[in-house]
Amino acid sequence: MDRRFRITPSILSADFARLGDEVQRVVAAGADGVHFDVMDNHYVPNLSVGHMVCQALRQHCRVPIDVHLMVQPVDALAERFAEAGADLISFHPDASTHVDRTVKLIRGHGCQVGLAFNPAEPLGVLEWMIDQIDLVLVMSVNPGFGGQGFIDGALRKIERVRRLIDDSGRDVRLQVDGGIKVDNIARVAAAGADTFVAGSAIFGQRDYAAVIDAMRAELAPYAEAVAA
Ligand code: DX5
Ligand code: ZN
Repeated sequence: MDRRFRITPSILSADFARLGDEVQRVVAAGADGVHFDVMDNHYVPNLSVGHMVCQALRQHCRVPIDVHLMVQPVDALAERFAEAGADLISFHPDASTHVDRTVKLIRGHGCQVGLAFNPAEPLGVLEWMIDQIDLVLVMSVNPGFGGQGFIDGALRKIERVRRLIDDSGRDVRLQVDGGIKVDNIARVAAAGADTFVAGSAIFGQRDYAAVIDAMRAELAPYAEAVAA
């Protein structure tokens, strides 16, 4: 089971006019993957980028692209992103009428699958779906915008998800998304996360490597527990 920590910068806070360069820079700075936030101005009150941008970025990007769909309905767009070269596609179960069908649809296109949970969204669906997914995404902000503050209540949810994953015995990653900074990433790791999305904390600084290195230094004390 590969439980090494992964840092996946969210492109939402990158300079969209130079997106290919931005992604290459952040990968050179040590990013383990790229987190691609998709907003539809329906499920969330904001609009970002679609599958054509993902397809274009795929050529510039040698690390995995994880697509975070904040859209409703889910299925048709999930297929477009699978065809555009996404490695993993996460969606919000409350945005899909038939969660099991959506999971199978994504997997049928050869992608890994994640389920994303808003701060007030219960985890009940995991009881039935944990055996079919590759990642649980715990939102630590309300989805729709970068640069928001971390919601502390997410820590208890991360702990709960960690137990569910461990009890399942499956290789499921626990990703946390929203408000992650150098000064709180250790608490998120201590609660049980292994994959960290950070947008504004990385792209808001000039030196991406300095931020990613500082995050890894904060994570180092927890690395052994995760590897065990
Ligand atoms: C929020 C997005 C996040 C967000 C992360 O809806 O899903 O990925 O952009 O950005 P920061 O790290 O700035 O909270
Ligand atoms: Zn996201």
